[in-house]
Amino acid sequence: MSVIGVLASGRGSNCEALLRAAAEGRLQGRIALVLSDRPEAPVLETGRRFNVPARYIDPGRKGARLTPEAEAQYVGALKDAGVEWVALAGFMRIVGPELLNGYAGRIVNIHPSLLPAFPGLDAQRQALEYGVRVAGCTVHLVNEGVDTGPIVLQQPVPVLPTDTVESLSARILEEEHGLYVRALNLLLKGNYRIEGRRIFF
Ligand code: GRF
Repeated sequence: MSVIGVLASGRGSNCEALLRAAAEGRLQGRIALVLSDRPEAPVLETGRRFNVPARYIDPGRKGARLTPEAEAQYVGALKDAGVEWVALAGFMRIVGPELLNGYAGRIVNIHPSLLPAFPGLDAQRQALEYGVRVAGCTVHLVNEGVDTGPIVLQQPVPVLPTDTVESLSARILEEEHGLYVRALNLLLKGNYRIEGRRIFF
């Protein structure tokens, strides 16, 4: 069974969905470690509730990226825990070379839009303000860009005339939880090939 590490900065509902799926035997992997760049992140408590070691590692600085030294510490902690796949779940940092090289092709992210539309922060607000009729979420492999890696799975979510950022975000989030489990299971099976940006299962 593959060993997964989760990196998250906040609330941790996607992390919880993965932990629950693993506990219920619905995830073809074991979550060995939860790491956060914020000491007060609720996700640390979520990990511990599921008896998974959960640690804050100092990001080294504010801003979009960890320092290279901090990122090396993240990689070290993941390797020490035997982690083979890294799942980003609301990790508010751009992944740099240490993680990308340490886990080449094995870092996954979930984003609350149908990429390549609305990458970056506040995707649901961007979608609503643009006026799209269909929003959604995407699980993708992580490369050096922001939300630009090859797409694993996507789930559309209709936008309702009555939607606010909050209501749309909540409906997308519900779909995120199932989508992340399905996408990880596809990858963990290992039966896929990548051609250009396309992943064939
Ligand atoms: C989710 O909307 C996810 O798509 C985005 O950040 C949010 C994290 O939420 N990357 P949570 O911490 O998993 O509840």
